[in-house]
Amino acid sequence: MKTAVYPGSFDPITNGHLDIVERLSKLYDKVIILVSVNSSKRPLFSHPERKAMIKEAVRHYDNVEVDSFSGLLVDYVKSKNAVIVKGLRALSDFEIEFQMALANRQLCEEVETLFLMTNMKYSHISSSLVKEINSYSGDISSMVPKNIEKLLIEKRSN
Ligand code: PNS
Repeated sequence: MKTAVYPGSFDPITNGHLDIVERLSKLYDKVIILVSVNSSKRPLFSHPERKAMIKEAVRHYDNVEVDSFSGLLVDYVKSKNAVIVKGLRALSDFEIEFQMALANRQLCEEVETLFLMTNMKYSHISSSLVKEINSYSGDISSMVPKNIEKLLIEKRSN
């Protein structure tokens, strides 16, 4: 059984992330979307909120699960006998992803990191951009699924 762990902050998950999930679901027997902690970010949504909104957005897949973890990524991935898969948008992603992949390999040699190139259609979309546009009441309907757009609008008005 081939398992891919797709980790990220997903604050919130975007259509770009979901495009990677769609493609991964065809390549692997099981895909785990792992809501993880990035200590350099201050999230808008809590872990349980993010987990619930992602679950709703991927409920039509029968081989995609959603989990959250606040420890070291390699420990989680090793326990699942899986590989790490990350999405790469632009060159600007490469440096940080390269650094994380090498650090993860140093922590645990058996865990491999693989990359999928983003769909061009979504290469400019990021969670931060979506949050910024939403904070100014801009239209984010083509960037996130409907349930997430609704939750972002609710957060804005609270
Ligand atoms: O979506 P992001 O914020 O770019 O994802 C980064 C994330 C959360 C995958 C990364 O910070 C991570 O792996 N956090 C878990 C803790 C950990 O293992 N840190 C060392 C990574 S080199």
